[in-house]
Amino acid sequence: MRHDNDSWDITTSVGSTALFVAASRALEARKPEPLAVDPYAEVFCRAVVGEWADLFDGAGLDSKPDHILHTAFGVQFVNFQGARTRYFDAYFAAAAAAGVRQIVLLAAGLDSRAYRLPWPDGTVVYELDQPQVLDFKRRVLADHGDEPRAQRRAIAVDLRDDWQGALTASGFDPGLPSAWLAEGLLMYLPAVAQQALFAGIDALSAPNSWAAVEESVPMPTEVFEAKRAEERAAGDDGTFFTLVYNERHAPAEQWFSERGWAAEPTSLADYLADVGRPMPAEDPEVGAMISAIRLITATKG
Ligand SMILES: C[S@@+](CC[C@H](N)C(=O)[O-])C[C@H]1O[C@@H](n2cnc3c(N)ncnc32)[C@H](O)[C@@H]1O
Repeated sequence: MRHDNDSWDITTSVGSTALFVAASRALEARKPEPLAVDPYAEVFCRAVVGEWADLFDGAGLDSKPDHILHTAFGVQFVNFQGARTRYFDAYFAAAAAAGVRQIVLLAAGLDSRAYRLPWPDGTVVYELDQPQVLDFKRRVLADHGDEPRAQRRAIAVDLRDDWQGALTASGFDPGLPSAWLAEGLLMYLPAVAQQALFAGIDALSAPNSWAAVEESVPMPTEVFEAKRAEERAAGDDGTFFTLVYNERHAPAEQWFSERGWAAEPTSLADYLADVGRPMPAEDPEVGAMISAIRLITATKG
């Protein structure tokens, strides 16, 4: 279970969710016609060895990642991760084309965009996450000999604390346009920290800034509590439902629109259909997961 000020490394608690989504990107990248190719995702999984590396060699049967990612649910989860990577890659390409040179990855985890996207000269990518997560990422990429394709500044901070101060202390200029991303993050923050996150983005965004958010509609409380109990009974405490907050302070489209941003929501289900990976209508669990998710892009006039 979560508590205020809890912390983690890459294999524990919320840190392991960064590995889960990286593993999904790695599995997507191995498909004949992938929605997105993140060549670093598999590198990260192999670096932690054990069940995360075994996932790619067929030896991981009976491990937790294997149980989740190589099931009917897992197939759709991998599609979802491929689709969201593609959507947010396109978002950053558009922001860069519009002249934005400050990029902020809130809860960067194992996001490798600083290393794999063709950033224009002068771009600075700020990556915020917990210290041990960023430390793991730094070590793996250094051992692998990789260089970022933009100036990269890692900021070890808890996003429930004063991350705005840490960002500006690292050289972020609120007087210049920026492009922000909260991908796979909101559900790990209590509503009060979600609100502070949106308020921080707005306060630090000059005109012509961009913001992108992935959000999901909370589940009915009794359904959520039943899922948590199920996870615990199966000995899977700390897999998903015990790590997330089933609360949202406000829908992103509404919140940003009310503050003068032009916000455009895309339902994940529609986007999956558009990119040729429609969700199977017959699976209620997958349907509930996918239909609860929206990808929002907002621009500040
Ligand atoms: C599901 S991962 C997503 C990572 C990345 N955005 C991606 O899509 O690949 C969630 C990430 O949020 C980070 N995170 C969650 N709550 C946080 C907090 N309070 N402070 C800093 N990082 C946090 C975790 O450490 C983890 O890296």
